[in-house]
Amino acid sequence: MLRYATAGESHGKCLIALIEGIPYGTPASVEAANAELQRRQGGYGRGARMKLEKDEAEILTGVRKGHTLGSPVTLQIANRVQNTEELNPITRPRPGHADLAGAMKFGTQDARDVAERSSARETAARVACGAFANAFLGHFGVKVLGYVVEVGGIASDVRIDDPSALVRVRDESLFYTLDPTLDERIRARVDEVKAAGDTLGGVFEVRVFAAPPGLGSHAGWEHKLDGALARALMSVQTVKAVEVGLGFEASRRQGSQMHDEILLAGDGKLARSRNNAGGIEGGMTNGQPVVTRAACKPISTLRKPMQTVDLASKEQAQALYERSDVCVVPAASVIGQAVVAFEIARAFLEKFGGDTFDETRQRFDAYRRQLEQFGR
Ligand SMILES: Cc1cc2nc3c(=O)[nH]c(=O)nc-3n(C[C@H](O)[C@H](O)[C@H](O)COP(=O)(O)O)c2cc1C
Repeated sequence: MLRYATAGESHGKCLIALIEGIPYGTPASVEAANAELQRRQGGYGRGARMKLEKDEAEILTGVRKGHTLGSPVTLQIANRVQNTEELNPITRPRPGHADLAGAMKFGTQDARDVAERSSARETAARVACGAFANAFLGHFGVKVLGYVVEVGGIASDVRIDDPSALVRVRDESLFYTLDPTLDERIRARVDEVKAAGDTLGGVFEVRVFAAPPGLGSHAGWEHKLDGALARALMSVQTVKAVEVGLGFEASRRQGSQMHDEILLAGDGKLARSRNNAGGIEGGMTNGQPVVTRAACKPISTLRKPMQTVDLASKEQAQALYERSDVCVVPAASVIGQAVVAFEIARAFLEKFGGDTFDETRQRFDAYRRQLEQFGR
């Protein structure tokens, strides 16, 4: 089974990612991961730390002569700031962070021991894993792309159906939206909120292009792809809600206004009238693009701090402020893309399997022939 784990603290030596289950012989390089790591650090609204860190992944194991060995792939991303031992304790837990819950869980007054790991710095390792997964899927024509659709209540309806055009537009936008004309409005909003010492959230969308039908399974709850995607997205720091397709809007519609009719196109192919389902029915991909959205809360560390209690003195206090971002929705969209890519790659390998890349390809090609009876 394809799976990954990450290790590392925010100001420790490095972050580590371990990926198991990539078939032998898969072309592998670190470039895609590094490009995504740079995108994760970009986007308007990031704080000083992003200028300090220039993330680069290094492959430690599992790759030789540009291809995977079938053994675990490990990656390392060095931290530029490596001072965990010198950091002050966090005795004034920040509302919205893991600080208080973690301090109570571990029985400590120093939430630093929690914050060093709960920090979204960890997501650099996830982004690297997701880039590997996306590159793997790319060999089968599948592409997973994340972009921002709303920041601080300013939303964009623009969607782009061509993956290359989408990347071009998104990568020119300060906020990774598909509507660069919104950039100035969003920038003004971020600046205004920043000046007030506050923070902003928003929504990103992740779309999977050319996912073959039948990824995931209806047969057991833990194999349902929508469940896996929801879990992966919800696990990203700041994400508070996840939608597939129309999501919450589906609950307000009548069935006739929701479901995507199955049509016989003129050339004998099956088509769908629209994609309200977001490409997943019964826990499986149905051949339409998979569309998921995630809502990010405004980040938790405020320059104008909120009230808390000092765990050491037991006095009312202001929450700790350390340099912090104002709006991380663009970065969150990069992380969202990564975690969705990983889940899609996992489901892909669950369906097609194979010890080697060539075996996976043969099985994928055989499946495509099987799909011809459905006019695909
Ligand atoms: C890319 C990214 C960067 C973040 N940077 C910060 C930050 O600078 N300051 C902050 O208070 N929270 C930041 N967060 C949010 C916290 O990590 C997150 O809200 C916190 O760990 C609590 O987790 P939860 O949102 O899952 O409840 C960031 C999140 C992401 C995704």
